[in-house]
Amino acid sequence: MSSRVCGGEGDGREVVTTCGKKIVVDGRWLQMRRNGDGVVEGMVTVLVMEEINCGRGQCGGKSGGTVVVGIMVAAVIFELSQVGDGGVCSESSVGGDGGVCRGSSGVLQPVAMNSTTRSQPAFHRGYAQHSSIQLQLMENHKADKGIEERQGNDEEEEREVEEFRILGHSMCLKRKREPDRVLIEPQTLESRRNAVRAWGNQVLSKADPDVFSIMEKEKQRQFKWIELIASENFVSRAVMEALGSHLTNKYSEGMPGGRYYCGNEHIDEIETLCCNRALAAFGLDSDNWGVNVQPYSCTSANFAVFTGLLLPGDRIMGLDPPCGGNTSHGYYTPNGMKVSGASIFFESFPYKVNPHSGYVDYDKLEEKALDFRPKVLICGGSSYPREWDYVRMRQVADKCGAVLMCDMAQISGLVAAKECVNPFYCCDIVTSTTHKSLRGPRGGIIFYRKGSKPKKIGMLLNQGDGSDRYDFEDKINFAVFPALQGGPHNNHIAALAIALKQVATPEYKAYMQQVKKNAQALASALLRRHLRLVTGGTDNHLVLWDLRTLGLTGKNYEKVCELSHITLNKITIFDDNGTITPGGVRIGTAAMTSRGCVEADFESMAEFLIRAAQITSTVQRERGKLPKAFLQGLQNNKDIVELRTRVENFATQFAMPGFDA
Ligand SMILES: Cc1ncc(COP(=O)(O)O)c(C=O)c1O
Repeated sequence: MSSRVCGGEGDGREVVTTCGKKIVVDGRWLQMRRNGDGVVEGMVTVLVMEEINCGRGQCGGKSGGTVVVGIMVAAVIFELSQVGDGGVCSESSVGGDGGVCRGSSGVLQPVAMNSTTRSQPAFHRGYAQHSSIQLQLMENHKADKGIEERQGNDEEEEREVEEFRILGHSMCLKRKREPDRVLIEPQTLESRRNAVRAWGNQVLSKADPDVFSIMEKEKQRQFKWIELIASENFVSRAVMEALGSHLTNKYSEGMPGGRYYCGNEHIDEIETLCCNRALAAFGLDSDNWGVNVQPYSCTSANFAVFTGLLLPGDRIMGLDPPCGGNTSHGYYTPNGMKVSGASIFFESFPYKVNPHSGYVDYDKLEEKALDFRPKVLICGGSSYPREWDYVRMRQVADKCGAVLMCDMAQISGLVAAKECVNPFYCCDIVTSTTHKSLRGPRGGIIFYRKGSKPKKIGMLLNQGDGSDRYDFEDKINFAVFPALQGGPHNNHIAALAIALKQVATPEYKAYMQQVKKNAQALASALLRRHLRLVTGGTDNHLVLWDLRTLGLTGKNYEKVCELSHITLNKITIFDDNGTITPGGVRIGTAAMTSRGCVEADFESMAEFLIRAAQITSTVQRERGKLPKAFLQGLQNNKDIVELRTRVENFATQFAMPGFDA
C-alpha cells in the first residue's frame, strides 16, 4: 500500500481541529521511512502547539479530554504535511499501511500561515528547542489506548514508547525521556515570549533558592561576626543598589566619547561623573591629573601601570610582601618562585623594613635603588601601620630616574579625608583599591599626572623620553583597555561614583577620623597589656600585633579567632635577624567603624582578641603548635564556644550598613 506524504517542511501555521479549536503548529519532517515490520516511521520535528481540550473526542481521543501537547503536535504535523501548503498534497510513495497518510482530506485543515513564520520555512529558522519525536503508524499495534487513558498517568507518559489513537488511527511515539523539556516547550507566539520573559523577572529567592540561601547565610555571617580584616568594609545601600543594577548589561569598551559599541551616551555620562568625582575627592586639578576608573581591581590597576610604562623585563621596586608590601608590586618566594605577574613579566626588587623598628629602612632602600635603578619605584603596602615618607621616596626616585608610584589601596580613605600625609604631592602615579577604607565597590583606580612636568620636583631622569610633559595618560589608558581588560564594569563605575560623592562629605571625614581613633583605642588596649605591636603603634587604620612574644603563631591564632567568629589575618613579621616568620596578625578598624563602633567598642574587641590569644596559648601548650594536633585541640573547645557567644552578642548590637531597618 502506498501513502502520500509531503516530504518537505511543515511550516508554522494555524490549523483547525475537528472540535473547532485553532491551534498553531510548527515543525518539519526530517525523515519518513518504512521499518522492517512494514511500519511507516516519521521523524518529526515539532515546535509549537496549544494544548487541545477536546470535549467531543474528535481530536483522536475516544472520549475527548486534554491532548498531551507534544504527542498531538506530532500527529498534526504528520497530517498537515500531507495536505501541504494550501491543501495541495505532494505525493511520494513510501509504502506503509495507509492510516494517517490518507491524503488531503485529513481532519485538520490548514487555515493560515503564522505571520511570524511565514517569511521563512521552518527548516531554515534554526530552532533551538525542537523536540524530535519518532512517529510510527500503529494500525496493527497490539496496544490501542486512547488519549484520555493516558491523561494524569505520568508514569505511563514517562515511557519510552507511547501509544495512543489519534485521528482514528493507532499510533506510537518513540521519544527520549525528556518530560520537563516537553512540558516547558513554548506553544504560541505569546507563550514563547512569556517563557523567555518569565525567568527574567524572577526574584532571586525564586529564581535560584540555592544561591539565595547561601547568600542569606553569608549575610548572617557578616552580621554576627566581628570583622577586623583591614582590607574589608561595608558599603552603603546606595552603592549596593548601583552594583546590582541594569548597568551591568551594557558593553562600553573604550573611554567616554570613544567607545567600541554604540548606545553609550549615559554610560559616558556616568564614567565622566565618576572621574570628576574621583579627582574632586582627592583634591586634584584636572589640568594636572587624570584618572582611569575602569580597573577591575588594584592588582589589575598596578599591572596596567607597569604594562603601560615598561617593557617586559624592566625593573620595579616595592616593599617586600613579608615586610608589609603587596604581591602585586612583585614577589619571589624564598625558594625563588615568581608569585605575581609583576615578577613574572618584570624584574622586581624589594626593599624592606628595619627589622628592629618595623619602619621602612629608607637608607637601605636608596642604596638598593641606586644599584638596581628601577624604572618604577613603588610606595604603599598592605600591612604598614605608619606614614610614608613620600618626600624621601621622591628624592630616591629622582636620583635613580624612576617614576614614583604610590599604591594607596589601604589608606585611600584617609588620604581623601586628609587624615594622613598626601601621596599626590610627590608621586607621579597613584593607584588604589576602591573597596577598603574608601568604602566603595570592589575595584581599582589609577591616577596619573598629566600636562607639564613641574620644574621644582627634580624629574630629571625619569620617564625616559626627556620630554617636559607627562605621557602617562595614553599609555595607561591603552594598558587598561585594550591591552589588559575588556569592557568596563559600568555597575561598578556607577557605584564608585556614588561612593566618591560620599567620600567628599563631612560625614565621611568624621568616619575616617573615627576609624583612626578606633585604631588608636585598640592599639592602646593591647599595649596596656604589654603586648607587642609592630612599630609600637599605628598612624592609620591598622594595627600589627606581634604574637611571637606570647609564643603564638599567626596561623594558629587566626584559626582560633575564626572559630570564635572574629575575622582578621595572619602576617609575617620581619624579625631582628632578618628571618621571616608568620608570627603576627593584622587588625583593621574600618569595617567595624562602618557598623557604628567607637573607642569603647574597640576596647571590648581588644578583650575578645586577648581572650582568643589565651585560648590559643592553652591549646598550643596542650597540643603543640603543629597544625594537625593544634586543630584537634580546637574541636568542641568550650572556651571557644563561650567566646563565640560573647562575640556574636556583641556584634549583633551593630546593624550592618545597607540592611538597617
Ligand atoms: C596595597 C594593596 N595593593 C593592592 C591590593 C590588591 O587589591 P585587589 O584585591 O583589588 O587586587 C591590596 C589588597 O589588599 C593592597 O593592600
